[in-house]
Amino acid sequence: EASIREKLIEAHELTAKFYHYLLMNTTHGQPAMQYLRSRGVTDKQIDQFMIGYAPPEWDTLTRFLEKREFKADLMEKGGLLVAKHDGSGYIDRFRDRIMFPIWNRDGKTIALAGRMLGEGQPKYLNSPETMLFNKSRNFYNFHHARPTMRKSRRIILFEGYMDVIKAWSAGVSNGVATMGTALTEEHAAVLQRNVDEAILCYDGDNAGQAAVLKSIPILEKVGLRVQVAMLPKGMDPDDFIEQYGPNTFLQDTIEHPVSVTKFKLIYTKKSHILLEEEGQKNYLLEAVGIVAELESPTEREFHLKELSREFDISLESLKQDCFQHRQQLQ
Ligand code: CTP
Ligand code: MN
Ligand code: MN
Ligand code: MN
Ligand code: MN
Repeated sequence: EASIREKLIEAHELTAKFYHYLLMNTTHGQPAMQYLRSRGVTDKQIDQFMIGYAPPEWDTLTRFLEKREFKADLMEKGGLLVAKHDGSGYIDRFRDRIMFPIWNRDGKTIALAGRMLGEGQPKYLNSPETMLFNKSRNFYNFHHARPTMRKSRRIILFEGYMDVIKAWSAGVSNGVATMGTALTEEHAAVLQRNVDEAILCYDGDNAGQAAVLKSIPILEKVGLRVQVAMLPKGMDPDDFIEQYGPNTFLQDTIEHPVSVTKFKLIYTKKSHILLEEEGQKNYLLEAVGIVAELESPTEREFHLKELSREFDISLESLKQDCFQHRQQLQ
């Protein structure tokens, strides 16, 4: 068992290096390199994150691993190769993709993710769940982020690879990503052992914002303080950094996160038509319900006062509604 794990890790480490070499040093890698350049990825980032390229042929990695006497059936279990349908052998899982190695907490390569060079489906192809790789526990970039995470007792959660990489260059050295799967209780348990506070910095699209809403209670349940770093509509951290630069990213998002309550209010607001009286009323009642969940009277009053100013409703009425909500919560 232990030696099988070691063998698989060794294969992953070699594979990551092989793909990195193909990207950096061969003409095969040129289109991939150009694609990365077009997205503003630097040589330094390519090196730090060991970004690579899997060529389009069916058997480049298969032959590479075979030559080094790795057993093909084991490599298939590890997710690097795929068995042919007719049972006549194996082929590479990743073809014609930009490759991102995924590390465990000790920095050992345990999985890979591959991105298409342009548009198409699936945009990313990840290693399957294996004896090394558990998606509901693993974070992308955890081992790089660990020192800062532990020192600052804080983690920044992103959605994807490019967000983590770009943010890292902008100075965010405690950023990790959940890689497409929703944040799980197991993820939260890992975080809880390392930090006191989590900042959610997901994409500014509907899916990203809905994921923020879902992640909040999971993080709060393990006792973490949660804040939300918001992005303009439709942008993700990687887009934002490309468009506005690293300093604006830090100042406008990471360094000025909003509270969970504020986030919920903003999120809820979007589903109401505030130009109509009915929409305003519905929003206000929902908003008061959100505020009612806060345990601190001071915090409740803070938000109610803001709502009172914004909609020109007396604080007294809002407080009464809030009180009723709280009684229903008991
Ligand atoms: N993801 C995945 N498989 C997909 C799509 C997404 O595993 N088919 C994961 C990847 O980890 C991806 C993350 O979900 O990084 C966030 O998805 P998305 O926002 O769609 O991708 P981006 O990270 O923005 O990718 P890019 O910037 O390369 O377009
Ligand atoms: Mn290198
Ligand atoms: Mn997204
Ligand atoms: Mn994105
Ligand atoms: Mn993106």
